[in-house]
Amino acid sequence: MTDALHTPAAVTLTSFRDAMARLGAAVHVVTSDGPGGRAGFTATAVCSVTDSPPTLIVCLNRNASAYPAVVANGVLCVNTLAGGQAGISNTFGGKTPMAERFAAGTWSTLETGAPVLEGAIAHFDCQITERTAVGTHDVLLCQVVAIHSDTAAPGLLYLDRAYHALHGG
Ligand SMILES: Cc1cc2nc3c(=O)[nH]c(=O)nc-3n(C[C@H](O)[C@H](O)[C@H](O)COP(=O)(O)O)c2cc1C
Repeated sequence: MTDALHTPAAVTLTSFRDAMARLGAAVHVVTSDGPGGRAGFTATAVCSVTDSPPTLIVCLNRNASAYPAVVANGVLCVNTLAGGQAGISNTFGGKTPMAERFAAGTWSTLETGAPVLEGAIAHFDCQITERTAVGTHDVLLCQVVAIHSDTAAPGLLYLDRAYHALHGG
């Protein structure tokens, strides 16, 4: 067969990124605090592994400014953004100084001391239990030690390199 479906495209950085842009993903602000200081970054590379024990993976670029703090603190909170929070996603999405990022939100804590963002639809407060380097990123295995979720507010989707606020109901 030689039709488009059966002729594989070359796997390049661009073809991989373009194909991944077609996968819709929830948007999270991942935060940390502790001896390494307060830090945070925007992430879509967050996924459930198992509910027994409740475990997530978070993929973090080792060049990100938040990386040293996240590793030193050994804890993080995954704050899953609501439909109206695209602005804070951009603020945590790169280049903005850490103090300015945190000035853009209102914060509390659960168990670990990692910052919990007011208005997010779910908060997964985690201990990092394992860290594995894969290419440019570290895959962080995160055990969830506290949860808070507000199921009423609709979520935020990142798809085709754009934000889409989901509608409730
Ligand atoms: C929508 C969106 C999703 C992102 N997802 C990830 C991710 O899953 N993992 C990651 O390491 N960086 C991700 N980034 C990039 C980081 O948020 C950004 O590189 C990080 O804040 C580091 O920037 P800095 O080094 O300027 O602080 C994402 C950015 C955006 C805008």
